[in-house]
Amino acid sequence: MVVKAQCDVAAQAPQSAESTRTGFDVARIRADFPILQREVDGKPLTYFDSAATSLKPTPVIEAVTRFYTESCANIHRGVHLLSMEASELYDEARRKVARFLNADEEEIVFVRNATEGLNLVCHCLNRKGAVVATLADHHSVQLPWLERRELRYVGVERDGSLNLSSLRKAIRRGTALVCVPHVSNALGVINPVEEAIALAHDVGALALVDGSQSVPHMPTDVQALGCDFLVFSGHKMLGPSGIGVLFGRRELLEEMQPFLRGGDMNKEVHKGWYVPEELPGKFEAGTPNIEGAIGLGAAVDYLESIGMENIEDHSGELTAFALQELSGLEKIRVHGPLDPVRRSSSVAFDLPGLEAHGLAKMLSNRYAIMVRSGYHCAQPLHEELGIPQTVRASFYLYNTLEEIGALGAALRQVMAAYTRAAV
Ligand SMILES: Cc1ncc(COP(=O)(O)O)c(C=O)c1O
Repeated sequence: MVVKAQCDVAAQAPQSAESTRTGFDVARIRADFPILQREVDGKPLTYFDSAATSLKPTPVIEAVTRFYTESCANIHRGVHLLSMEASELYDEARRKVARFLNADEEEIVFVRNATEGLNLVCHCLNRKGAVVATLADHHSVQLPWLERRELRYVGVERDGSLNLSSLRKAIRRGTALVCVPHVSNALGVINPVEEAIALAHDVGALALVDGSQSVPHMPTDVQALGCDFLVFSGHKMLGPSGIGVLFGRRELLEEMQPFLRGGDMNKEVHKGWYVPEELPGKFEAGTPNIEGAIGLGAAVDYLESIGMENIEDHSGELTAFALQELSGLEKIRVHGPLDPVRRSSSVAFDLPGLEAHGLAKMLSNRYAIMVRSGYHCAQPLHEELGIPQTVRASFYLYNTLEEIGALGAALRQVMAAYTRAAV
């Protein structure tokens, strides 16, 4: 939906990067992100692409480096000192993630990324019935099921949020699994996941939450949510690339058979048969991304030291200011709801007549502002709502109100130049 109205927030020109209205100490946080020292053609780097991947703080970089410089070894298969140390670091990372989500460590499977977690559920879930996904789901949720199961799509409201009555209709007959994105990566809409999970359970279906865009930004408690599965990627929450998490309820993971088999996922192997490892090891065949898991553990420590509630408040403040700033620009069309309470950490927009990739390139080349452009791996959502490719500015704990002001100023200049050229 194209929304063009004043947003009801009292955002004023911010005073400094060091304090925000929520009292969040952004300057202190920014000092932990070495890449933010970088200048591009004499301009400070503005990173607004955290929904694609986040920047990394020094403690995460150091944890990964320390593994390579002090404890580099394979895990769970050596009795020597380094292997024992590496195994302990890897297992400790799992405990940290479990605590972060209020889950048991046996319920935390390390995978490469959210995409692998989603594919794992698709290939290993042994339940008959259709799979229900929303039109707002990421391609990584939709594509694994194509040609494997009946995939029923749930509609969205005009602002891109999940349509609960469409969900109610879609799950009526023989549904095995309902997939819901907690936060839409394309429009930043926060979906009513609790209601969706309850509806799924009412008809005996399982509920999978795609937490890729929510876990990095808000407190997540899988017990309170009541979901059966939750997936997310480490690289969007300050961790390294190549590490992600699948949370699955213990009974479900126990009844599922692994789709990757090989070393380390078995207790014993004989000619023609084997005994799988206990949870979660049976799903982690082969040498895993050890340093990735350790880095993710360090990212969890870092996020917890700041507090997920504080991060959520800060993101809320940035999003509210961005909505006000961008929706106030004459030619810019902001997509999704304008109420900041219904959004998390990103704003997608377009400038009619200027292609999204062209605008993103201009913002990068002329202003050192990094944004994502395109369909954001949610092309069916764009098609359903008639939204063209967009530019998405996405925020995280290290962003400031000033940076959003700079984006607004850059867009004003682009529009002015573009209007002059059109005359
Ligand atoms: C909502 C959502 N789900 C799934 C994914 C896939 O994540 P990854 O590419 O890390 O597997 C993304 C990535 O952008 C996402 O935003």
